[in-house]
Order: sequence, then C-alpha cells, then structure tokens
Amino acid sequence: MADPITKVCRELCRKFPHHPARAIARKLVERTNGAITLDGARSRVRYQFGQCGAKKKNRTGAVAKRPARAPGQGIDLPPTLAEPWVVHDFGVVGVVGVISDLHVPYHSEIAVKAAVELMQDREIAGLLINGDFCDFYAISRFDKDPAKRDFKAELSAIREVLGSLRAAFPDIPIVLKSGNHEERWSAWLWQHAPEISDMPEMGLDRWLHLDKHQITLVEDKRIVMLGQLPVLHGHEKGKGISSPVNQARGAFLRLNHTVLEGHGHRTSGHCEPDMFGREVFCWSTGCLCELHPAYAPINKMNHGFALVDVQADGEFDVTNLRITAEGKVRQS
Ligand SMILES: [Fe+2]
Ligand SMILES: [Fe+2]
Repeated sequence: MADPITKVCRELCRKFPHHPARAIARKLVERTNGAITLDGARSRVRYQFGQCGAKKKNRTGAVAKRPARAPGQGIDLPPTLAEPWVVHDFGVVGVVGVISDLHVPYHSEIAVKAAVELMQDREIAGLLINGDFCDFYAISRFDKDPAKRDFKAELSAIREVLGSLRAAFPDIPIVLKSGNHEERWSAWLWQHAPEISDMPEMGLDRWLHLDKHQITLVEDKRIVMLGQLPVLHGHEKGKGISSPVNQARGAFLRLNHTVLEGHGHRTSGHCEPDMFGREVFCWSTGCLCELHPAYAPINKMNHGFALVDVQADGEFDVTNLRITAEGKVRQS
C-alpha cells in the first residue's frame, strides 16, 4: 500500500507526463504542504518516471516511464527556421557621413555635390548610405509612367553614382543599407522570377557591382550602429505613424530610444529626458533627391544629411545638416 505522498506523486506524474521533473516536484511539495523537501520530491518524481539509475530503472512501481532528458529539455521541438536579426556594427571611430534618399536616377546634383564636398572637407572616416540610394522606379509595383520604364538606364546611373562616391572617398569604409526602394528588387524577383530569386547571382550586391567598389551591403532591415547610435532607414518600424508632423518625434514615440533615420526626406529632431534624466534624442535627415517628384510635387521635403562623430568608447555627436536650394550647407 503506497503512502499518501507517493499517491499524490503518482497522480501528478500521470497527469503531467511531459512536464519537467523539477516542475512536478514543486507541485508535490506544494500539494503536501511542505511535508518533504524539493530534492526528496524530485527523486520520488524521477522514480515514477523510471529514471532512478540502471538498478532501479526496471522496478515495476514507476507509473509513467519516459526516457531521461537533458537538463533544460522541457519539450521536443524541431529547430526553428527563424533567422537571427542582428545589428551591423559599422566599427569606425571618427566622423561618419550619413547620406540617404538619393533615389538615383532622380538624385539632386546640387545636393549630392554639396554633401560630398563638405564630407571631403571634414575628411570623414566612413560613409553610410542609409537607404533609398536607388529609386528602382521601373520595377515598382505602383502605377508607372511607361515613358520612364527603363530599368537598364536606371541601373547604369546607379552604378555610375556608386563609382563616383568611391572615387570621392577612395580609402574609407562605405556601407549601403537597404531602404524600402532597394527592397523593390527582391519584391520584383519574388513576383517575376521566384525560381532564381535566391541564387547568389541575383543578389542586389551583384547587380550593383558593390564588390568592385568594396561597398558592404546591409539588408533585412538590420540596424547599423555608429558607436552607440542606432541608425535606421525609417521603414523598419512597420505601419503606424507613417507621416508624423515631426518625423523625429514619431520615431521617439515608436522606439523610446535614441535613433537617427532617413526615409521621411525631411530634417527634424526631437529630444526628451527619460525618468532618470537621461537624454533620448531622435533625428531624421533630409534627402538628396529631387524635391518635386511626380507622385507628390507639393510636399515638405528638404535636402540634408548628417555627420556623426563617433568616439572610441561609443559616445557620439550628431550634426544634422540641411542644404539650401543654392547648395549651401547649413547646420540645423
Ligand atoms: Fe526615400
Ligand atoms: Fe524610404
């Protein structure tokens, strides 16, 4: 005749045959009002699962035999298909130029020249092209003007501007982070050539000749870190406050974290202290494309870019710059 504790133990093991032994042991201690210790409860549970070593394993008393498990192995699962989402550390100490939204071949020659000249003057140590470098108008899923659908010409202009940027900054690391317009490439492939879309030859890096110019591509909406400053293109946050009055404040409300982003084609900044008085500062940079695109000729876009001075300890200073219609660079 089993004692009362063994009875409760058997009942629990029958009821929860797949639960970890430690969890059942805790229940047993609870159900018996602490009449036994957790260790004692655990050996009783293991006994009921037939896991008391080779000698006792085949005893007939076990009510729910099961194979021994590795520590922490609660349940059997297939390996996850989810890929890790990790930040890209730019890894440069010094002044990094951050430009975005050139939308080549619809770039502004005046704005790009002004930004490049100032960055050369400041002898930047790295260049981050923060998304929407390409427009990819011809492969957009939106309504398109047939007269403008010349993908080959677009591609050729994109390659040319990349080459010009490398020539302007021959010895520094250059990173191109994908924006929503670069993602038009994979979206187009998935729709029109799914069978070959995952071949390395179809990668955006190959089509833009990034290897030739030693330019690193960062895809999958990953964050680029300039020291401790996270940089986003701006489309990574998903739907929500898509066109806030102040983009930087919209970013603050979504992220509650310091960030610098492009995408909105408008220079803005927003700063608030957190409950410990630490400063949370969000910035959005202006664009370097034409300011009156056919889809929205009247808008509030402005030209601009940023310089981020990154210290060895990760501290940083952001200078958010605007460019006037005449090509003068102004500090916001
Ligand atoms: Fe853009
Ligand atoms: Fe964008």
